[in-house]
Amino acid sequence: MQIAGSVALVTGANRGLGKCFVDALITRGAAKVYACARDTASLTSLIDSYGDKIEAVSLDVTDDVSVSNAAKIAGDVTLLINNAGVLTRLGLIEAGNLEPLRQELEVNLYGVARMCLAFAPVLKKSKNNSAVVNMLSVGSLHGFAPFGTYCVSKAAAMSLTQSLRYELQEQGTSVHGVYAGLIATDMTEGIEDEMATPEDIAGETLAGIESGLLDIDTGERAHAVRKLLMEENFDTIEQAYLDRAAGHYQKHGKDGSA
Ligand SMILES: NC(=O)c1ccc[n+]([C@@H]2O[C@H](COP(=O)([O-])OP(=O)(O)OC[C@H]3O[C@@H](n4cnc5c(N)ncnc54)[C@H](OP(=O)(O)O)[C@@H]3O)[C@@H](O)[C@H]2O)c1
Repeated sequence: MQIAGSVALVTGANRGLGKCFVDALITRGAAKVYACARDTASLTSLIDSYGDKIEAVSLDVTDDVSVSNAAKIAGDVTLLINNAGVLTRLGLIEAGNLEPLRQELEVNLYGVARMCLAFAPVLKKSKNNSAVVNMLSVGSLHGFAPFGTYCVSKAAAMSLTQSLRYELQEQGTSVHGVYAGLIATDMTEGIEDEMATPEDIAGETLAGIESGLLDIDTGERAHAVRKLLMEENFDTIEQAYLDRAAGHYQKHGKDGSA
């Protein structure tokens, strides 16, 4: 699918990667972008930059009414980017309860599912020229103890992405999953590690969509993990994740605050 001329909708567009998606979409010639945020006041700088190419939409992906209102407002969308996400930075045992897992599933899995359900009929209207893009993670490919519950949510979202690919094929909607390691945004604030820039991840994602890639690996880390998976080098993957988890706990402490 070509970005030029598309009508895109980005969830969580007010900051981080979502904001970079909006910039990259406009740069590549999107006709219009529905920029969604829970607080539309946080979209002012995007509207100041791009004027009537941007329409601000109030959207909480955990709220059925909010999602269905967005689908009514943005009835001409051809490219849906499910970017909104949350990370609690906890493992299950570390958390000691189900709340972080619930929160992450609510946004990272059910939020994506809710958006896909509401927008599938909208995307169907643009016959054979529409796409869904789900922002996943290398955490979809392998669990990582310090972000344990987040990885569960992103693995489930990957599975949903894969099956939606077949469900939406007949209506001509391609369904893309985007994989990334750490990205320098608010989500990773305070973590000292190698990180990709959100600008690079947004650019690589849109290039991947335009070249018809369904699984889009962005940044060095995603490419490295995919290579090990392709080589079926599971011991190395396991060890690499264990080493990184140990390194993370050493640097940040078990509660992430050190
Ligand atoms: N940063 C990374 O290292 C990394 C790596 C791989 C994948 N990802 C994924 O990339 C996506 C963007 O992450 P980011 O790094 O840009 O994170 P971020 O800077 O923390 O931004 C998260 C965005 O999601 C929005 N959001 C959260 N809950 C929402 C809800 N219930 N309804 C609507 N919007 C909601 C936030 O809105 P508010 O401003 O209202 O909170 C914010 O706009 C996420 O799906 C994340 O899991 C990130």
